[in-house]
Amino acid sequence: MFRLREFRLNSLPISGKLLCTLFLVCIGIGYVFCQLNLYLSYNRADGRMGLSLQDIVITFHGQPDMLLIESKLTGTMKKNLDSERDRNSLINWAKRGARKEKFSDVKGIIIKNCLKCHTVGGEASFAPFDKLSMVADTFTRINKGVPISRLITLSHIHMISIGMIFALTGAIFLFTPINEKLKIALLIFPFGSLMMDIFSWWLTKLVPIFAITVLVGGIFSVIAFLIQFVISILTMWSRKCENAG
Ligand code: HEC
Repeated sequence: MFRLREFRLNSLPISGKLLCTLFLVCIGIGYVFCQLNLYLSYNRADGRMGLSLQDIVITFHGQPDMLLIESKLTGTMKKNLDSERDRNSLINWAKRGARKEKFSDVKGIIIKNCLKCHTVGGEASFAPFDKLSMVADTFTRINKGVPISRLITLSHIHMISIGMIFALTGAIFLFTPINEKLKIALLIFPFGSLMMDIFSWWLTKLVPIFAITVLVGGIFSVIAFLIQFVISILTMWSRKCENAG
């Protein structure tokens, strides 16, 4: 009789092993791009290259002593401007109250450098600059970090999509011949890290110190995925006939 408890990846036919391996490799590559995207999006939040705790604090908690526009044009949005002069014009306009009469000083800069993303359907559609009132509103705000509405979007997308990925890689890992207690720990590890990471985004919004657990959670989830990936592939293709344990 076929007993699922005793089934091991090693006894899959070649076609089954190929399916699992290709799935893991594709998810692995996707995961690398996902981390790369994260790095490129946030590593310059503090204006310097390289992901640091300060980047995470600025992204989630913000810089309460600074206007949002100044903070962004020092960090992630700096690359979208051609010159320091344009940067100063935008910041000065904002600091002087983003007045309608002076909008002509900056309108051209915004149309040329910002509108392609900051519009409906653009990459930054959550902060459109199509109307003066919207520009003025965004430019005169204090940097309070990621808005709650965006944090909700980011959280549900990540929790559901990465949770699904861990469920599928976990379903493969379930049939590796390792010790049951270790297996339980390694199955909980990625989900625990993901929750630590995402809950810490919210906590960092309130208290900057939680940037540490954002970073730790992120690093742990990568390690957790790598461990499952390596053990699954190695034991699946091992020639040794595994006994169920
Ligand atoms: C290539 C696309 C792109 C361009 C061009 C761009 N932005 Fe952004 N902008 C984004 C994205 C994505 C975010 C969200 C991530 C972030 O805050 O770094 C953002 C966020 C912002 C925010 C924060 C909005 C908020 O509500 O949190 C400001 C302010 C901003 N941009 C200003 C500008 C200005 C000024 C320009 C033009 C000089 C500009 N951006 C050009 C993509 C862009």
